[in-house]
Amino acid sequence: MTITLDFAGKNVLVVGGTSGINRGVAELFARHGARVAVASRSQDKVDATVTALKALGSDAMGFAADVRNPDAIAAGVASVQQAFGDLDVVVSGAAGNFPATAMGMSANAFKAVIDIDLMGTFHVMQAVYPHLKKPGATVINISAPQAFIPMQAQSHVCAAKAGVDMITRTLAMEWGVDGVRVNSIVPGPIDNTEGMARLAPTEEMREACVQSVPLKRMGQPEDIGNACLFLASDLGSYVSGVVLPVDGGWAQNGAGSMSESLAAFAAMSKKS
Ligand code: COA
Ligand code: NAP
Repeated sequence: MTITLDFAGKNVLVVGGTSGINRGVAELFARHGARVAVASRSQDKVDATVTALKALGSDAMGFAADVRNPDAIAAGVASVQQAFGDLDVVVSGAAGNFPATAMGMSANAFKAVIDIDLMGTFHVMQAVYPHLKKPGATVINISAPQAFIPMQAQSHVCAAKAGVDMITRTLAMEWGVDGVRVNSIVPGPIDNTEGMARLAPTEEMREACVQSVPLKRMGQPEDIGNACLFLASDLGSYVSGVVLPVDGGWAQNGAGSMSESLAAFAAMSKKS
């Protein structure tokens, strides 16, 4: 069976799209013909990603902004709309994470992750709404298993990503009337990413993580990109308000096995 997904003439914005999973998503949309814009804090990372996207044939652009700054995000999104026109696809995936128990982090550390993951998602949603193609646009929030699987040393991420998924589900209701679909993707452990470098920093932890995935392998950014292509395409045209694990089955129970090793690692690496 051959399925061709053609995003020629489509405008895609990937917030947090300058490294790891989200960059893989941006590149996959570019390979499928889309005009792609990326955003993150580092101008250098934005520039490098835009160069790479252009090399893939995309009419790419980007802007540097922190998702914690709603005005900067709104201005950046408006600049993309001016250059491209209204947005067909928005992927929102900026996030921060570090292993720390509740008693091993300051209130400001907890707040940093809430501000980036949860408030940042809200800021992106508010910034993009006026510039979404209506009807027809689709929004994809990048969540995490911590949203529904409690993990030690992850109270900040668990709280933030649970909130992200509830934003997804609420906006699917609020924006459905406009013909805008809103979904979350929950990546499993994705190889060679900053997230896994932080959550499975030793070879032993990495191998334990692989063994905890029912499919016995880590994912690739392209696995998440493929799910984004599906959700953003006509194949996904009746899918909205879904929290979709793309994880080799990890969310069934494997992800929970990270809890003990993360608690032990956080105790070892506790900030003094
Ligand atoms: N354990 C406990 N607290 C930590 C910590 C750790 N490993 N790392 C950072 N913190 C605390 C800091 O000490 C600070 O708290 P304080 O002011 O009370 O000292 C607070 O978190 C904010 O840290 P800061 O470095 O000022 O924040 P930042 O805004 O520059 O960076 C982070 C945000 C901490 C999330 C940073 O790791 C980041 O930018 N991450 C993005 C990349 C990433 O996490 N990728 C994986 C995605 S899954
Ligand atoms: P990553 O490489 O660190 O990507 C994070 C991206 O967000 C980068 O482009 C980063 O660029 C940007 N970013 C971070 N903080 C930002 C801020 N305050 N404002 C704007 N941009 C910001 O991480 P990753 O591991 O690929 O994770 C990507 C997403 O997948 C995250 O949402 C994460 O929660 C989720 N996830 C990852 C895994 C995994 O296995 N890695 C598993 C489950 C879920 P700058 O540094 O330039 O800002």
